Amino acid sequence: MCGIFGCVGLDESVKAVLSGLRRLEYRGYDSAGVCTFSNDKIIFEKQVGKISTLDEATEKKGMKGNKLALAHTRWATHGKPTKENAHPHLDEKNTLALVHNGIIENHEVLRRDLKAKGVKFLSDTDSEVIAHLIAKDFEEDLLGAVQRSLPLLEGSFAIGVIHEKEPNTIIAFCKDAPLAVGMNEGVTYLSSDPNAFPSEVKNVVFLSNGEIARLQAGVLELFDGDLTPIQRESLIIERHDQVFSKGDYEHYTLKEIDEQPMAIRNALFNRTHYDFGTATLEGLNLSIHELLEVERVLILGCGTSYHAGIIGAMMIEELARVPTQIEIASEYRYSNPIVLPGTLVIAISQSGETADTVAAVRELKTKGAPVLWIGNVQGSTLAREADGALFLRAGPEIGVCSTKAFTNQVVVLSLFALMMGRMRHLSRDEGKAFLDCLMRLPDEVQTILDRKGDIAKLAKKYAKYDNFFFLGRRYMYPVSLEAALKLKEISYINANGYPAGELKHGPIALINESCPTVAFTTNQTTFPKMKSNLQEVKARHGLVLAVSSVDHRALDGVADDLIQVPQTIDPLASVLASVAGQLLAYYIALERGANIDQPRNLAKAVTVE
Ligand code: F6R
Repeated sequence: MCGIFGCVGLDESVKAVLSGLRRLEYRGYDSAGVCTFSNDKIIFEKQVGKISTLDEATEKKGMKGNKLALAHTRWATHGKPTKENAHPHLDEKNTLALVHNGIIENHEVLRRDLKAKGVKFLSDTDSEVIAHLIAKDFEEDLLGAVQRSLPLLEGSFAIGVIHEKEPNTIIAFCKDAPLAVGMNEGVTYLSSDPNAFPSEVKNVVFLSNGEIARLQAGVLELFDGDLTPIQRESLIIERHDQVFSKGDYEHYTLKEIDEQPMAIRNALFNRTHYDFGTATLEGLNLSIHELLEVERVLILGCGTSYHAGIIGAMMIEELARVPTQIEIASEYRYSNPIVLPGTLVIAISQSGETADTVAAVRELKTKGAPVLWIGNVQGSTLAREADGALFLRAGPEIGVCSTKAFTNQVVVLSLFALMMGRMRHLSRDEGKAFLDCLMRLPDEVQTILDRKGDIAKLAKKYAKYDNFFFLGRRYMYPVSLEAALKLKEISYINANGYPAGELKHGPIALINESCPTVAFTTNQTTFPKMKSNLQEVKARHGLVLAVSSVDHRALDGVADDLIQVPQTIDPLASVLASVAGQLLAYYIALERGANIDQPRNLAKAVTVE
């Protein structure tokens, strides 16, 4: 994971790179560092903690940056989050500084060899190995030294390197990890994500795998592994600068939960065709003929995106009767997948950067399957590598825990399922009835948000428990997984999402008066069964908080507390129930004083395998 940001050609380059780095904080936030030149010598600063701490430290030192600066925000892989392990890493004589994103898989062997040659290491990281290797190989130019060292390195990684002999140059390289270069009026920027560039940078060049870049003020040169120059047209990317603000909110997470009605409206905008009871989806890059030939769908994702995928798979089977398999990308990529003709792959990833999802997509593409990406970040790796893209239009999601991106994933998947259904057996009236429910969704979500004070009150009662079960059936099962994940990640409470019918096959042993159950009961077809499962919980003295859309009397005797949500059809009830789950997790985390926007040990984009 980690984020790299550099710039060449600005007088106050340290300020500029730290501002870019703040936009990369989603990639990791356990420590950060920056390097630049002073009197032709490399100077650097590293701090444990957020970029704001680094900012204060550079300010105190009066470190302004002379035309060039290179910075890094870290998510620890090798070595604890300490100052020593923070980037940049330097060689023994401080002639070279390096920032690194990714993992060097053979770092132990390399470290051993370097140690045998007398090199002294200051950190536990795999990254420091690269700095020493390149420094040892430096003869006359940094580009050549980097190029000669690269074949020794195994893994997926991106690097940025500077050397005191070339104080106007950054050398960058990437392999299975993103790097982009942006240019504006004599200034050249380097970043792990083009969305971190200043707003005036619109033209962006993405480095492809195995390419080396030399950045100087207003100049970018690209080379292949043999240092043969490469020509590359820049791409124009869309920017979303205005929304990187919390406004009056204490946390981005609550702001983003509250933005869901608007985000869903955006996801639906211009994508519905009411008269025909169907959806029209731009960006699929598949003809009607190709869509009709789809015989099966394979959905991939990780974490929250995987949960949205489970709901999507159920909807595609229910509405379109197309067999749909859902897989966790990190497992699937190692399965030597069997891809039958007629398979359409849907990769779900908010960031478009999740390493496991990207790797699974690459594997499936080599097997010849068309890949459709459902995601949020324009210009991301999956946006570029997938054959087609359905954008979530959720707007930037800054809170590390995914909220509005999740609901928009479900909404976009529902549009896809509807379209596929209408191309098969679903009648126009059935399509219209589905759209009626879909169009009501933003207002229904708003109803839940308007009553969030009630959920905040319940959170006060439930915040004291350290173990939870989240139960549901059918569409409410993935909702339970998702709600449990939200609680785990932002409040650090142990929470198990489980299919309610499975409880009696083992986990019911854990139910007692100190382990409450949050029960998602809004799947109408399974409501009676769900009620019986909750009776089993009550019989074991379990406390039950039910998310319900029915008259509260229907749950008399089984629910101790209720969160009421509007009633809708089963597939879309997943959105409403999830919003209730998000609010519950948020307010419990608030009660427990957790760091809600940036929970410990996490990062927004998981770019390591
Ligand atoms: C949880 C969360 C993660 C992500 C997962 C995949 O709230 O945000 O579980 O869903 O890391 O990320 P994307 O969707 O970017 O591939």
